[in-house]
Amino acid sequence: MERNQDVVVKVEDLHVNFYNNDRCNKVLRGVSFELKKGKIMCIVGESGCGKSVTANSIMGLLPDLSRIEKGSITFHYQGEDIRIDRLKRKGKEMRKLRGEGMAMIFQDPMTALNPVFTVGYQINEALLYHNGASSRKDATKKSIQLLKEMGIPLPKQRVKEYPHQFSGGMSQRAMIAMAMSCRPKVLIADEPTTALDVTIQAQIFELMLDLKETNDTAILLITHDMGVVAELADDVAVMYMGNIVESGDARAVLTRPSHPYTKALLDSIPVLGRGREQKLEPIKGSTPDPYNRPAGCQFAPRCAYATPECETGMPPESMVEEGHMCRCFHHLRKKEGEAND
Ligand SMILES: Nc1ncnc2c1ncn2[C@@H]1O[C@H](COP(=O)(O)OP(=O)(O)O)[C@@H](O)[C@H]1O
Ligand SMILES: [Mg+2]
Repeated sequence: MERNQDVVVKVEDLHVNFYNNDRCNKVLRGVSFELKKGKIMCIVGESGCGKSVTANSIMGLLPDLSRIEKGSITFHYQGEDIRIDRLKRKGKEMRKLRGEGMAMIFQDPMTALNPVFTVGYQINEALLYHNGASSRKDATKKSIQLLKEMGIPLPKQRVKEYPHQFSGGMSQRAMIAMAMSCRPKVLIADEPTTALDVTIQAQIFELMLDLKETNDTAILLITHDMGVVAELADDVAVMYMGNIVESGDARAVLTRPSHPYTKALLDSIPVLGRGREQKLEPIKGSTPDPYNRPAGCQFAPRCAYATPECETGMPPESMVEEGHMCRCFHHLRKKEGEAND
């Protein structure tokens, strides 16, 4: 198989359905992207568009009521191409990959820490299992250091406490410490800092950058914060209702957004550097009912540029410039117009 040496995870034409009371929700409808060594890719998009489902698919953590219908997820690890979509979600292979090859920071820290063990014990285990520490004593030293780096006060004492003795923000930080301690090849962070204050946020991003640079970790970062995207992302993918509608080099997408949805999203969120002058414009309308979707482009009902053509089907991918893709009939029409001028 031809493969770019820098690609660590390749997601191709991924379709994921959820089955609820005989109803089928087609949550991912052909998602494709690549995570590259030592690069941060950000996924942005309104809530409910499939960001977490994308992340969970890569980690083999989809719930039982969901199914990968079509497409593939390939993880290039230790010289092998591992088809994650074919592994058993709770099987031995998948469990081994999680933590060792891939780690995830969740939105909800309670899902990642085990209530019956002390926080320190859990970080120690992660360090020892993944050869991050040479002995239990060494592991404890490193766990304390990690908690300290995460801004947890009295780390020597805290390391002996149980998750329920931690506040939500502290559990979140402990979990991040645990995920980072394994120095994984792939780190997936699903809105990791939403509930944390800005100083801690900055520290966590600092650690991510360090992991990316010293360990060549490929990072998938899901965030609502365009300021974070502008500062950290190498690549960005904009998702809407189960499709990536625009993607490419972060600078290109942020400075030359071409999909009306991307433009609307950028206008609706404060962007660092645009100052107080920036007028925030909420995106008109709301996301469609997933069980009663529009026929063609999912954004058409909310789009100022929509024409009957937009209801004929999902627009094909077209290139805005090299490495910058957009799926929009309006963009295609504009391009054709320019070509005919
Ligand atoms: N556990 C679940 N059970 C049923 N439906 C789900 C579940 N998780 C996600 N979905 C469906 O998938 C859609 C995408 O969810 P998600 O990926 O969590 O969105 P987000 O982009 O906000 O992370 C949701 O709108 C919902 O319809
Ligand atoms: Mg989510």
